[in-house]
Amino acid sequence: MSGNLATVSYIGAIILFILSLGGLSNPETSRRGNLYGMVGMTIAVLATVFGPRVTAAGIPWIIGAMVVGGGVGLYAAKVVKMTQMPELVALMHSLVGLAACLVGFASYIDTSIQFTGAEKTIHEVEIYVGILIGAVTFSGSLIAFGKLNGMIGGSPLLLPARHWLNLVGLLVVIWFGGKFISAHSVSDGMMPLLVMTVIALLFGIHMVMAIGGADMPVVVSMLNSYSGWAAAATGFMLSNDLLIVVGALVGSSGAILSYIMCRAMNRNFISVIAGGFGTGGGAPTAPKGEAAQPAGEVVPVSAAETAELLKEAKSVIIVPGYGMAVAQAQHTVYEITKHLREKGVNIRFGIHPVAGRMPGHMNVLLAEAKVPYDIVMEMDELNDDFPDTDVAMVIGANDIVNPAAQDDPTSPIAGMPVLEVWKAKTSIVMKRSMASGYAGVDNPLFYKENNRMLFGDAKKMLDEVLVALKGA
Ligand code: TAP
Repeated sequence: MSGNLATVSYIGAIILFILSLGGLSNPETSRRGNLYGMVGMTIAVLATVFGPRVTAAGIPWIIGAMVVGGGVGLYAAKVVKMTQMPELVALMHSLVGLAACLVGFASYIDTSIQFTGAEKTIHEVEIYVGILIGAVTFSGSLIAFGKLNGMIGGSPLLLPARHWLNLVGLLVVIWFGGKFISAHSVSDGMMPLLVMTVIALLFGIHMVMAIGGADMPVVVSMLNSYSGWAAAATGFMLSNDLLIVVGALVGSSGAILSYIMCRAMNRNFISVIAGGFGTGGGAPTAPKGEAAQPAGEVVPVSAAETAELLKEAKSVIIVPGYGMAVAQAQHTVYEITKHLREKGVNIRFGIHPVAGRMPGHMNVLLAEAKVPYDIVMEMDELNDDFPDTDVAMVIGANDIVNPAAQDDPTSPIAGMPVLEVWKAKTSIVMKRSMASGYAGVDNPLFYKENNRMLFGDAKKMLDEVLVALKGA
C-alpha cells in the first residue's frame, strides 16, 4: 500500500471513530456507533499492517501476534459475563499502559534512527512522558481490576501524609527527567528512566488504592482517559498520526466522562484523583457483602403481596441496580412493565448515573430487554416525582437509593445524589439479604416505615410476581 493510500485510509478511520463516539452518546444510535467503530478499526489495522512502514519480513510476525491476541480477545468475549465487563475493561486499560511502557523502552534502546539536537530532546521527552503515563495507567488499572472483582477490598488505603508523598514523587520524577534528557548515552539514561518507571508504578497503585468504593466509577473513566493519553504518547514515539488522534479522542472523551461522573456524584474531580475523598473523616465502611448494622425493624413481603401492591398502583417507578444485572432479571422486568402498561399504570424507570458497575450499565440491559427508551429516565428527570408515586420498586440496587447520602454528613457517600424512593407511598426493595452494596454502607431505607423488603434472587422473585400479576 502506498504512503498516500495509507494516509487517506487513516483519515477515513479517524472520521469513522468520531462518528462512532457521536453515535455512542445515545442508546438509539449506539448500535450504529459501534458499527462505525468496528469498520474504522478494521481500516486502521489494514492500513497499518499493509502500510509503507511494515516490511514484508515483519508481516508474519504481525499476523502471528494478531492471531494470538485476537484468539484471547474472542475467548474473553465468549466467557466474560456482562457483570464482569468493568473488570475486563480495567484489564484492557492496563494493557494499553503496558504497551506504552514497552514501546517507550524499545524506542529508547533502538539506535537505528539517530536523532540530534532539538529532535533528540523532543524524542526523549516523548519517551519519558509516554512511559510515565503508561506506567501509571498500567499499575492503576491492575489495582482497579482487583477492586472491581473483589480481590482487593473496597475501603480506601489512606497513608499518612499521602498528598505529600504524591508531591515528593512528582518532584523526583521531574528531577530525574532532567537527568534523563541530559544523559549522553543509552546506558546513562537508563537509570533515571527506570527510577521514574518505578515511581510511576507506585503512584498508580497509591492513587487507586486511596479511592473509596463509591468513587470507583470516576476512577474507571479516569483510567479510560489515561489509557487514551498513553496510546497518544505511543503514537508520538512511533510517529504514527492515527494513534495520536485516536489516543487523544479516547483521552479527551474519557476526561469528559470523568467530569460528568464527578458532577453526577457531587464529587470534586481533583479530590477524587488525590484519593480518599469523602472517606477520611467518615464512618468506617462495612466490608463489601457483609450484613449491615441493624437500625430498626424491616418488613418483609412476599411476591404475591408485591403483585397486590402493583395491581393497586396508578404510578410505579422502577429503580434497577447491580443486582438486576447479576440476576439477569431485565427480561422479566420488561414482561411486568408490559403487563402493567396494558392495565394503564404509569410506569417509568429511574436510572442513576453510577447504577451497576459501568457507565450506562442499566440502559444497556433495559435496551437488550426492549424496554421503550421513552420510559427510561435519568435520576434528575424524575426525582421530584416520587411523592406522587404509589410504588417505587428497587430491583437489586442499594447505594444509589441510600438516604444516608442526604441525611448523614459522616457517611462515606455523603453528598452523592440518590434516587429518593422513600418519598413514594410505598417502596419495595428486592435483594437477597440485608448485605450492603458496593460502597459497604448501611442503608437506612430498609428500616423506613413505608418500605417493604422482598428477599430473594431478583429474577426468581420477579418471575413469581409476574405469575401472581397474570393470575388475577
Ligand atoms: P450496589 O450498591 O452494589 O447494590 C447492589 C445490590 O444488589 C446488593 O446490595 C445486593 O444485595 C443485590 N444483589 C446482588 N445480586 C442480586 C440478585 N441476584 N438478586 C437480587 N439482588 C441482588 O449497586 P447499585 O445500587 O447499582 O450502586 C452501584 C454501586 O457501584 C455504587 O456504589 C457505585 O459507586 C459503584 N460502582 C459503579 C460503577 C459504575 S461506572 N456504574 C463502577 C464501579 C463501582 P444482596 O447481596 O443482599 O442480594
